[in-house]
Amino acid sequence: MTARAANTEVVLRWGSLADLPELLAHHAPAARYAVVSDSNVAPVHGQPVVERLAAAGQHADLFTIRAGEPHKTTAAWATLVEALAAEGLGRDGCVVAVGGGVTGDLAGFAAATYARGVAVVQVPTSLLAMVDASLGGKTGVDLAAGKNLVGAFHPPRLVLIDPQLLGTLPPDAMADGLAEAVKHGAIADTAYLDWIEANAEAVLAHDPAALHRLVTDSVRIKGGVVERDPEEAGERAVLNFGHTIGHAIEAATDYSVGHGSAVSLGMVAEAAIGEAVGVTEAGTGRRIQRALRACGLPIDHRPLPEPKTLLQAARTDKKNRGGAVRYVLLARLGVTVKSPDGGWAHPVPDDRVEEVLNGLRRVPGLAPHV
Ligand SMILES: NC(=O)c1ccc[n+]([C@@H]2O[C@H](COP(=O)([O-])OP(=O)(O)OC[C@H]3O[C@@H](n4cnc5c(N)ncnc54)[C@H](O)[C@@H]3O)[C@@H](O)[C@H]2O)c1
Ligand SMILES: [Zn+2]
Repeated sequence: MTARAANTEVVLRWGSLADLPELLAHHAPAARYAVVSDSNVAPVHGQPVVERLAAAGQHADLFTIRAGEPHKTTAAWATLVEALAAEGLGRDGCVVAVGGGVTGDLAGFAAATYARGVAVVQVPTSLLAMVDASLGGKTGVDLAAGKNLVGAFHPPRLVLIDPQLLGTLPPDAMADGLAEAVKHGAIADTAYLDWIEANAEAVLAHDPAALHRLVTDSVRIKGGVVERDPEEAGERAVLNFGHTIGHAIEAATDYSVGHGSAVSLGMVAEAAIGEAVGVTEAGTGRRIQRALRACGLPIDHRPLPEPKTLLQAARTDKKNRGGAVRYVLLARLGVTVKSPDGGWAHPVPDDRVEEVLNGLRRVPGLAPHV
């Protein structure tokens, strides 16, 4: 599949990495390519990409960053841009991010800022990056005060998605990717949500047809939202469903809970919040929980930090400065709803949220017979 999402060329095909040199020459011609990978991905995919480009006569160098969310920092950004400068990357250079969402966000932010901006190409290697993070042009790094607090919009010239690269991804990380796909179904497409629930096993087993369908639908849904609202002036905020509590869980656990798992727990919480305040149709949360469980994602809030701690973390998130913390709420499955003040996220008082989170800590999630 080749599609355009918000001015970005998206190529999705099993084995498409073989075409990278040609696709780069066409969509992102550059004097040299800075291939950025993390320490896990560099040996298995980053170095082979550099060799592939060199074999095609393209000048490419490998830059390896430390793996993991705790290294998505301004310090890592500084080290990377210094290294780009030391290698002599010019404004006619191009950054090629080969990795998961952490690599894509950090390398993308380096590209957005280095020499006031050089081109970037995303080659996602995690399922989460294939269905979500590589698309839409958001880049950035975390601060101690919260996630993604420094960043820029910098759409990639090309997103090359080759599901074959998932062959080396740890199984838990496959499930993490499904969390964002469930989010796409929950906010926009009930049939897609049903399909995910029925086909999660095939996706987790790397079935090529199932992976193709999954990535195609997520690219369609996220691409559509981003195309209508590239810089989050409005509607794009719906992509944050599950992320207010999700980001709070990540921050409050020092990122020991991965992004996908945190978003899974965040969607359980935000669906429950929507139902509690009477905005979301009753039963919506249970349906989302069922899909998440089919994906092997966590739904049980009992091991999480205290609700007060989570709310404190939510308050430092950049979207929640001043006033009540805001949440994207569903009207029902597949449909989000604007808040009475016309925004895309609803202010909900902390005491209501605390009540809901305490309720979730008393039950182990979905009853086994459902
Ligand atoms: N920019 C956006 O729009 C956007 C959207 C969603 C998420 N994100 C960001 O994405 C990040 C999460 O992405 P992620 O889950 O991909 O995290 P990640 O990049 O940390 O990857 C998860 C783990 O898998 C490893 N890995 C990735 N691909 C591999 C492969 N093919 N083989 C072996 N190991 C591999 C990584 O080294 C890492 O250890 C978060 O920082 C989140 O904020 C950004
Ligand atoms: Zn996310």
